[in-house]
Amino acid sequence: MRITLRLIVALVVTVAVVAAGSAYFHVEQERLRLNDEMERRSRLLAESLQESVQPAIEAGASANLQRLVEKFGNRERVSGMAIYDAKGKALAVTEKLGPSLSGVRVLVAETLERRVDASRFETIGDQRMHVYVMPLLAKDAAVGALVMFQNATYIQAQLKHIWQIAFFRVLVQVLLITLVTLLVVRWSIVGPIAKMAEWMKQLRSGEVAEPGFALPKEDLLAPITREVSTFARHLSAAKAAAGEEARLRQSAEALWTPDRLKEHVRAKLHGRPLFVVSNREPYMHTRKGRKVECIVPAGGLVTALEPVLRASGGTWIAHGAGDADFEVVDGKNRLRVPPDDPHYTLRRVSLSKEEENGYYYGFSNEGMWPLCHIAHTRPAFRAEDWAQYQAANQKFAQAVVEELNGVEGPCVLIQDYHFALLPRMIKELRPDARIAVFWHIPWPNPEAFGICPWQRELLYGMLGADLVGFHTQYHCNNFLDTVDRTLESRIDWERFAVEKGGHSTLVKPFPISVAFPEAFQDVDSAPVAATEDSTALLKEMGIKAKFLGVGVERMDYTKGVLERFRGIERFLEKYPRYQGEFTFVQLGAPSRTHIKRYHDFLAEVEQEAERINWRFKTTDYKPILFLKKHHSHQEIMPYYRQADVCMVTSLHDGMNLVAKEFVAARADEGGALILSRFAGAAQELRDALIVNPYDAEQLADSIRAALEMAPEERSERMRRMRETVREHNIYRWAGNLIEELTRIRVAPETLGKA
Ligand code: G6P
Repeated sequence: MRITLRLIVALVVTVAVVAAGSAYFHVEQERLRLNDEMERRSRLLAESLQESVQPAIEAGASANLQRLVEKFGNRERVSGMAIYDAKGKALAVTEKLGPSLSGVRVLVAETLERRVDASRFETIGDQRMHVYVMPLLAKDAAVGALVMFQNATYIQAQLKHIWQIAFFRVLVQVLLITLVTLLVVRWSIVGPIAKMAEWMKQLRSGEVAEPGFALPKEDLLAPITREVSTFARHLSAAKAAAGEEARLRQSAEALWTPDRLKEHVRAKLHGRPLFVVSNREPYMHTRKGRKVECIVPAGGLVTALEPVLRASGGTWIAHGAGDADFEVVDGKNRLRVPPDDPHYTLRRVSLSKEEENGYYYGFSNEGMWPLCHIAHTRPAFRAEDWAQYQAANQKFAQAVVEELNGVEGPCVLIQDYHFALLPRMIKELRPDARIAVFWHIPWPNPEAFGICPWQRELLYGMLGADLVGFHTQYHCNNFLDTVDRTLESRIDWERFAVEKGGHSTLVKPFPISVAFPEAFQDVDSAPVAATEDSTALLKEMGIKAKFLGVGVERMDYTKGVLERFRGIERFLEKYPRYQGEFTFVQLGAPSRTHIKRYHDFLAEVEQEAERINWRFKTTDYKPILFLKKHHSHQEIMPYYRQADVCMVTSLHDGMNLVAKEFVAARADEGGALILSRFAGAAQELRDALIVNPYDAEQLADSIRAALEMAPEERSERMRRMRETVREHNIYRWAGNLIEELTRIRVAPETLGKA
């Protein structure tokens, strides 16, 4: 209220001062105008009488003069007249003016002496009068003076009136300002703040769990709203974590939570920051017209690591691939992220077009990616790409070493096949660093890997790390076999370690996961409203169907999307009653499209969807809906939550986090998961319907089984899968990896050369 009062007083004082100033100016103008008008009138009358007065004075005809002053002294507005001789003696005076004209006499004397007319205001009797004196001149000598009197009281009245009008105007303005200010303050500030306070009260008392109603969005309150929403999210998360911990204490389990990971990292790293390196960045800034947009790129690596860095803090070093990425960084190419709730530092590395082409598109994605995925796409190895791969790894090594500056014995987690050379490059510059490299994709058998012309260099580079991680033991074994066959080294099959040049590298499986229970932390996790169902979701897209299937992918030929579509086609052929009843929505983010194989693949998927749709579609039904664009977490969530079945049919996949995300999203324990046996996730999610994606018959039957499964069995399977993902979540993955890394004894002096 005090602020409102202050606001009103400030506005009122300002308005009053401005109005008073302008009224004063107006009054002064009016005063001058009226005075001028009065003087002009007196002068005109005096001039018109001059010719008859002058001879009468010279002739000493005082009776005539008296008649004259009585006659003209009673005209409209004229209150009187007086005539004086050259010595200033009154010859004739209008009678009603009375005797007290001493002030006038002085003015007359001055006028006769100066021989120019003069005027002034005088109080005569009880009236304020304008007195005008005109000298009567004959041959440069004054023979007398003519004096005109006019009543000036009306000037005062008129000026008073102006002041009164100004006062009333100010009064009305003040009332209006007060009223409008009160209403604006009430509607735009007090009301929304009261609403926010009430909501926070409910949040504190536990009546609401999440920002359930729309918080005020007014410009003025927007920063507070943003902070309050974040604060509420944190509070909910803290409450959930506390609840979970209490539950765990009771059941003596040890669930990994963000807080536990934070504590663990702090304890293990003794307060030193964590460093993560990957090619793909967690936040990408792109230009959309005049605006800069921030997106979270699609892909398992970012999905998995983002919650880890949020929990542990530290620095993530990655390629700045967005076209507006370097517009938002500081002088050292750093920025704090997530942008709306900063928890860690993102250091962006800039690559030239040639570097990006050779290192990322060429060697990494046309060479290493198909080399490690057995998905029948032939790898391409070109010497120019290899040169760029080495150069880019070197550039990243430089950036990492810059970031490590001043940190003793730092821990560095390197991600994926883009950086096989990086572990050794960093180790050579910083022998005290503990380095882990985690390979997010499969590792093939030695024969398959052996076709790479630079296999020795790649392995040697990786063995610069203290720890090499894969998703499964099978991939670890393949890696150890490959090293055994390729490099001169000693494999310790007891410890799963490689000894080379006095340096030991541990090789271990760490099955990656998602942030359960708070997967998709940036999405409102309120339960799905009863009215929201798959039918309604499909209806929004103009489709009438009873069952919804969903697939979420970065459009990559390893994901088995074509095989999946053929399975759906076979399902509709084999079980025709589902025609018009089952629709599959494929959310597909275009990926690596500069590579011909990816470009062609996208077109193939579109054609295949079109072909199958042509067979089965009707006016309001389509079996496949291919939504080809990058989808945010918010956009994906409704599909996960409402699908009857989610299909993950990778031809080969390190882990596949879509399967785990789907499970994490199903708090209702509904929905079934069809999962490829060639995805790492199949080893953990045993309650999924495990399939061979190359077998269309099996796919068709598993879709039917998913849709016709008894509800109890469906929720039982989902419950068990959720338990697995909850226990083996991303915090546990990071906790184990860091624990293992910090347990290793780093002996810098023993790191030898090959
Ligand atoms: C896979 C890789 C990641 C990669 C992601 C997205 O999950 O293992 O390293 O980031 O795909 O691919 P992109 O080429 O867009 O980074």
